[in-house]
Amino acid sequence: MSGPRLHLSLIGIGTGNPDHLTRGAEKAIRAADVVLVPRKGAGKEDLAGLRAAILSDILPDASVRSRFVDLPVRDPAIADYPARVEAWHDAIAQAWAEALAEDLARARGRLRVALLVWGDPSLYDSTLRIAARLRPAPDIEVIPGITAIQGLTSAFAIPLNAVGAPVTITTGRRLRAEGFPTGVDTCVVMLDEGQAYAGLDSDAFDIWWAAYVGMPDEIRIHGRLGAVADSIAAARAEARARHGWIMDIYLLRRRPA
Ligand SMILES: C[S@@+](CC[C@H](N)C(=O)[O-])C[C@H]1O[C@@H](n2cnc3c(N)ncnc32)[C@H](O)[C@@H]1O
Repeated sequence: MSGPRLHLSLIGIGTGNPDHLTRGAEKAIRAADVVLVPRKGAGKEDLAGLRAAILSDILPDASVRSRFVDLPVRDPAIADYPARVEAWHDAIAQAWAEALAEDLARARGRLRVALLVWGDPSLYDSTLRIAARLRPAPDIEVIPGITAIQGLTSAFAIPLNAVGAPVTITTGRRLRAEGFPTGVDTCVVMLDEGQAYAGLDSDAFDIWWAAYVGMPDEIRIHGRLGAVADSIAAARAEARARHGWIMDIYLLRRRPA
């Protein structure tokens, strides 16, 4: 005899604006028997608060259906970065399994579990990779969400790509290490802990930079990189000090010669 089946809905919730939530996301949240709620992770009280607000708006009994998971942290003793991330994902999958064990034991047939994912689960997010570690393998459903890239381009009302042209999406770490990617004129940079753009030729690029996209404190700065780099650095430092955290994203476009 096989046990109950786990149905996992990974629900993109957009990047901080409750209006980003799609009707599909609302339906999937309502349909869930339980919701897995990470207690740490991004480590930002405000973001946890936003998730909680979305849940309580949609589920009157959110407190009954929520299962809190204390997320493990990466093990600094593992020197190799990919190995450290692998071990961390294993540990998170284990934490999910433990948080769901009682519900699974009680469930008849199928347990529907929802997980709210920042932005969209396909973009710089490991929820799908972690879900794939669960055994027995769950049925996985993805409800798409608005990404930080869409938040950025809509905030400035700009297209992502030039006509018929490709775009690269990369991280601050790679931009710093490898420079502006070859073969493209447009690059979106995420997960930048510092100011990776500072290493670029500041006359060669325009930048569209935004922080807290979609949230009440959204900040936007746009211009030739050389003209606005200092303002971005100052705005970033001030905002980080005020909030205790920052999430920012930018688009760089090569200026015509
Ligand atoms: C771990 S990734 C998650 C991306 C997310 N899955 C998405 O679809 O946008 C986190 C990065 O996304 C960007 N980001 C997410 N939300 C943002 C927001 N509200 N404002 C600015 N950048 C944001 C930042 O570059 C941040 O470092």
